[in-house]
Amino acid sequence: MASAMAASAIGFAGGASAADVKEVQMLHWWTSGGEAAALNVLKQDLAKEGYTWKDVPVAGGGGEGAMTALKAMVAAGNPPTASQILGYYAVDYAEAGKLGDITSLADKEGWAKVVPTALQKFTTTNGKWDAVPVNIHSVNWIWLNKAAMEKIGGTQPKTFDDFVALLDKAKKAGIIPLALGGQPWQEATLFDSVVASTGGIDFYKKAFIDLDESALKSDTMKKSFDNLAKLRAYTDPNYAGRDWNLATAMVIKGDALVQVMGDWAKGEFVNAHQQADKDFLCYRFPGTDGSVIYNTDMFAMFNVPEDRKAAQLALADATMSISFQSAFNVVKGSVPARMDVPDTAFDSCGKKGIADVKAANADGKFVGSMAQNYAQPPAVAGAYHDVVTKFFHGEIKSSDAAVTELVKALNNAK
Ligand code: GAL
Repeated sequence: MASAMAASAIGFAGGASAADVKEVQMLHWWTSGGEAAALNVLKQDLAKEGYTWKDVPVAGGGGEGAMTALKAMVAAGNPPTASQILGYYAVDYAEAGKLGDITSLADKEGWAKVVPTALQKFTTTNGKWDAVPVNIHSVNWIWLNKAAMEKIGGTQPKTFDDFVALLDKAKKAGIIPLALGGQPWQEATLFDSVVASTGGIDFYKKAFIDLDESALKSDTMKKSFDNLAKLRAYTDPNYAGRDWNLATAMVIKGDALVQVMGDWAKGEFVNAHQQADKDFLCYRFPGTDGSVIYNTDMFAMFNVPEDRKAAQLALADATMSISFQSAFNVVKGSVPARMDVPDTAFDSCGKKGIADVKAANADGKFVGSMAQNYAQPPAVAGAYHDVVTKFFHGEIKSSDAAVTELVKALNNAK
């Protein structure tokens, strides 16, 4: 196995052999305008190297549908060359022996020196590389329409209470304050930020990384649910089921003031030809400045037949190149997963994102998103989505009950 991989790596470096399939088959959920534009950067890079692209798109933000489709393909013994994947989903496939080994390329290119150690937990298994990080997204951002902000005389909210006051101002001015996509993964993604803002990042870690029961049951967690309920009052009545990019479009058009969303939202602004500081503003979710709650898109490299390995290595190599990590992430809204990519090509939000990742990583404030499968395995994250969404939609009626349900659900899922 190891020698076959080495042979492929050499084959790739020196030009693939005639028997190799010159096609990359990739499963992903990048179907919005901004996401598709970012993916095009990769398709074009690979086309330049002579690889055709076999697209396997599975629509649905957050990737739940994509993960179901992937599971079926892997179970049928027909995995894609690579799949977009988040956090513990990759760990599960690696532990089940479903991923390949691209360590020879990783060593040759020195990835271990440039990718944050926290991420290498997900891109390697027992020291072997089996996935590549495409980007670093983070969930604790808010995106505002600048003209709407000026109209209401708003200023950057620094605390959760400031944020509520700002939303109030928008409401009084007849602007929809909060553009929300009412889908479980989106509400859970919002709650990640609310918890970090309400309790601080150490509390977030205790609750979601350590699953510390006293933190999960605490008054701070109750207050987090109270704060989430406060935000509900600022959505429009049609939020239930709305896709995340349609919520972004409400902010782009100026129908709504703000969306709380990971920085893939910026990809939609960019795709609509809007500019940071001129048309839209980005701030960290109030009360979370200095912390980065990350979710990194990775490409998991599946065990593929021998004649597809050269294409897989070409994909990995292209993804990890410095120029690609810059070009792709400028369009996607995320920041590079390599720490040695210059920020020159990025707008002010991207520059802040890059600086934030470095600072948070150095300060122990670079933490995985619970909603996005970077704090806990999928079953636990799914249980979290469930409780948050039931609370948000009123099925769980109080913060007290929500905390009880959360502890129960997480314990059952562990
Ligand atoms: C996230 C993913 C992002 C973006 C978003 C919405 O899970 O990490 O890249 O695609 O979903 O689809």
